[in-house]
Amino acid sequence: MCGIVGYLGSQQATPIILDGLRRLEYRGYDSAGIATLDQGQVTIRRAEGKLARLESLLANQPLSGTVGIGHTRWATHGRPSEINAHPHVAGGIVVVHNGIIENYLELKRKLLDLGHRFSSETDTEIIAHLVEQHFKETADFESAVRRALGEVRGAFAVAILCAQQPDRLIAAKQGSPLVVGQGQGEYFVASDIPAMLSHTRQMVFLDDGELVSFSPSEMVFSTLAGEPLQKLAKTITWSPVMAEKGGYRHFMLKEIYEQPRAIADTIAGRVRENLGEVFLEGLKLNESELAALDRICLVACGTSWHAALVGKFLIEKHVRLPVEVDIASEFRYRDPVVTAKTLVLVISQSGETADTLAALREAHRRGGKVVAICNVVESSIARESDGVIYTHAGPEIGVASTKAFTTQLVSLYLFTLHLARVRATLGQEKLRTMLSDLLSLPRKVEECLGLDAAIEQAAQTVFQARDFLFLGRGNQFPIALEGALKLKEISYIHAEGYPAGEMKHGPIALIDEHLPVVVLAPHNATLEKVAANMEEVQARGGRVLAVSDRADGDLLAKV
Ligand code: F6R
Repeated sequence: MCGIVGYLGSQQATPIILDGLRRLEYRGYDSAGIATLDQGQVTIRRAEGKLARLESLLANQPLSGTVGIGHTRWATHGRPSEINAHPHVAGGIVVVHNGIIENYLELKRKLLDLGHRFSSETDTEIIAHLVEQHFKETADFESAVRRALGEVRGAFAVAILCAQQPDRLIAAKQGSPLVVGQGQGEYFVASDIPAMLSHTRQMVFLDDGELVSFSPSEMVFSTLAGEPLQKLAKTITWSPVMAEKGGYRHFMLKEIYEQPRAIADTIAGRVRENLGEVFLEGLKLNESELAALDRICLVACGTSWHAALVGKFLIEKHVRLPVEVDIASEFRYRDPVVTAKTLVLVISQSGETADTLAALREAHRRGGKVVAICNVVESSIARESDGVIYTHAGPEIGVASTKAFTTQLVSLYLFTLHLARVRATLGQEKLRTMLSDLLSLPRKVEECLGLDAAIEQAAQTVFQARDFLFLGRGNQFPIALEGALKLKEISYIHAEGYPAGEMKHGPIALIDEHLPVVVLAPHNATLEKVAANMEEVQARGGRVLAVSDRADGDLLAKV
C-alpha cells in the first residue's frame, strides 16, 4: 500500500502535497517524493525513509510550481531507496503509482528493445516509459496515458504529469483507491480522503477503469477506453480534526482511546431496544433472503480475520447456522463451496485489501451473495458488495487495527442479532437483553481505558521478555490471537496465540520464568478450566498476566 497526492491550482503545490502525504503516511513510509511542474520544467525531490527526511530536503532545496504530484511508499518491487522512491520520470512524463503491475517484466523487455533505459527497480517506472513511448507516437498526453494503461495488467492508482503539457494532471485507477477533491479553482487527487480534507469536502470517488483529466478550468471524467462520464461529488462530513492525532503521542494510541466513541457511532441509529430489533441500513438482503441462507462464510485478513473468528462463535451460537471462516488469501485457491444459499461476509477496515477483494469477486463468480463489514465508505470492497454494514470507526491512521477491530465485533454482533430475529432463533426478551448489554458497551470500554495506569505498571514487569504466549478459550481464543498479533506488530516481540486447552499438547515445553503468559480469563463457563491452565503455567515457573472482568473471583485469586 502506498499513498499518492496530486494538486493543480493557483497555490504553491509543494506544501499542499506534503500536508496530504503526512496524512497518508499510514499507507507507507519507507520513502517519499514530490515532483512539480514550473514553466514546463519538471523538478523532483525524493528521500529514503520517513516523510520528515523529504521535508528537510525540501527545506534546503525548495520546489516551486502550482501543479505537482507526491508519493509515500511501502515497497513492493524494489527495495526502499531514493532511486526507487516515486515520482518516476521518463522523457518529461512523471508518475506516482499505488498498486502492482503484474506484467512489468514483459513490458520492460519490450521497452528495452525500443531503446528505453531504466534507472530504478520498480514496476512503476514502466508506466512512465510506456506513456513516454505513446506520447512520442501521438503527441497527445491523454491518449498516451490511455494507451499505456491499456497495456498494463494489475492494480494501479496513478497521477501523471507531462512537461510538454504543463497545465494538465491526469489520474486513473484500476484496483487501487483514488479520490478526487474539488476546491475553488483548484483540484486534488489522493489515495484517501484525509489527504485533502483541510482543503475541500467536495469529493468524487473514482471507480475501477476510470480516468480524470484536470486543467485549470475543469476536471473531465471518462472511462479508460475514452467514454465520457458524469460523476457526482459527495460532501464528506469528517472533520479534519478527526484525522489528526488529537493530542496523543501517536495515532494508534489516539485510536485506542477513540473506541467508546467509535463503538457508540457504530451502534447509533441501528437499535430499537424495546422491540429487540436491529436495523442495518446498507445490508440490502431482505428477510426472505436471510431466511433462505443455509451457510455463512466469513472471509478476511489479519485482525479482520480474528474478528471473523469471533463472528463464527456469535452466529453459530445465536443463529444456529453453520459458519466457515477463511483467510482471504486462501479462499480463492481452495475451490470453496459457494451456492446461491451461501452468504459470504467479507470483513475489511480499509475496504481495499487485495486478497479480500479477490475473495469477494470469487464468491460472486460462484453465485454467492456478498455483504461487507467495512470502515471506508465507497471503498472498492464496499462498492462491489451486494450490501454493506459500515463500521463507523472514522479514519484509521495508525497502522495497527484497534478501533476498527472492536467496531467490527460490534457490527458482527448487530448482524447476528438481526439474523436471529429474522430466523426466530432468539426470542424478543433475549434480544432485548443482548441489545441492552450492547448499549452499555461504550461505557464499559471507557472503564477499561481508565485502567491504563495499572496496565502500564503490569507491562513494566514484563517488557524485557523476548517471547510471549497468549491463551484463551472459546471466543477468547481469537482475542488471544489478536493480542499476540498486536504485540508482534507493535513491539517486535515474538508472541503466539493459543487455545488454552491446547497448551499441554506442545507449547507447555516452552514455559519458564522467561516466557510471560497472558491469559484471557473472563468470568464465563470456561473460567475453571482456564484457571487450571494458569496453574499449569505457574507450576513450571511461568509468569501469568491474567485479563479478567472481575478481580474478586476465588479462582483468579490464585494468580
Ligand atoms: C493488524 C492489521 C492487519 C489488517 C489486515 C486487513 O493490526 O491492521 O492485520 O487487519 O491487513 O486489513 P483490512 O481490514 O483493511 O482488510
